[in-house]
Amino acid sequence: MTSSERRVLLAAPRGYCAGVDRAVITVEKALDKYGPPVYVRKQIVHNKHVVSSLEARGAVFVDELESVPEGATVVFSAHGVSPAVHAEAEERSLRTIDATCPLVTKVHNEARRFAGGGQDILLIGHAGHEEVEGTAGEAPDSIQLVEGPDDVDRIEVRDPSRVAWLSQTTLSVDETMQTVDRLRERFPQLIDPPSDDICYATQNRQVAVKEIADKADLVIVVGSANSSNSVRLVEVALEAGAHAAYRVDNAEEIEDAWLDGVQVVGVTSGASVPDSLVEGVLDLLTERGFPAAEEVRTAEESLIFALPPELRTPRRAAS
Ligand code: F3S
Repeated sequence: MTSSERRVLLAAPRGYCAGVDRAVITVEKALDKYGPPVYVRKQIVHNKHVVSSLEARGAVFVDELESVPEGATVVFSAHGVSPAVHAEAEERSLRTIDATCPLVTKVHNEARRFAGGGQDILLIGHAGHEEVEGTAGEAPDSIQLVEGPDDVDRIEVRDPSRVAWLSQTTLSVDETMQTVDRLRERFPQLIDPPSDDICYATQNRQVAVKEIADKADLVIVVGSANSSNSVRLVEVALEAGAHAAYRVDNAEEIEDAWLDGVQVVGVTSGASVPDSLVEGVLDLLTERGFPAAEEVRTAEESLIFALPPELRTPRRAAS
């Protein structure tokens, strides 16, 4: 094989989504405005590198609010929190800044609306994921978790004609639709959410990785192990025809053996991954004799979310 036969296909869109961008800027601005320490409940976004850079600037990551001193400032992560967490923060007189992604808030609102209308809600998602815990906390008596098609037969509902489904925002689109199909077989009157819960960024990154995966011998997904959307990108790449696909936090985790005999490498990254980590992977591929990456773009993204109100710069009054 000569190096001229080698290619690197770089998926686009990849990396930061609007919700992650907003969450990271929220912590940075909170540090500027209030000074360190600023506490953050859970990882602000699921990426080790982002968390350690913010720690270096004075953010303190905690698992639960009981670790936050009374009266301190705490940021809620992009994945959202349940009403019980908001209530606890108020009881403890914490200054809260909510960096929940607006697209997660949309799912919370749907959960409240369906529960208020007396529906049983089947929430498709992964047990233990923070987003699922936050959404389920909106209506704990009405929501049941469904992890996949195999869970469908064990579900019990109060009234099979009054059942709705919702989902975590970062799932595999194709797998979720298989679960929904099974749910609809069991509950023909199943109500859909008003619009897709799997967010635009998750969908766009899956479409883009599919586009490169069937041409690639190897797909490298940059993202942390606890990042749901990054882990899904590996699965989607394999299903779409990549011979092999691995998730890495950074270039140092790439094993030389993965590149043996490989001609076409696909590269992408999850929604919580800064592009500097992808550039590290591309640099390593160059060192190993691969040519410059060719970007393969399947969508343009321009969405930007406003910062939480506490951190918006006030407009000057007109004179
Ligand atoms: Fe929000 Fe989707 Fe990103 S839900 S945090 S825009 S992955």
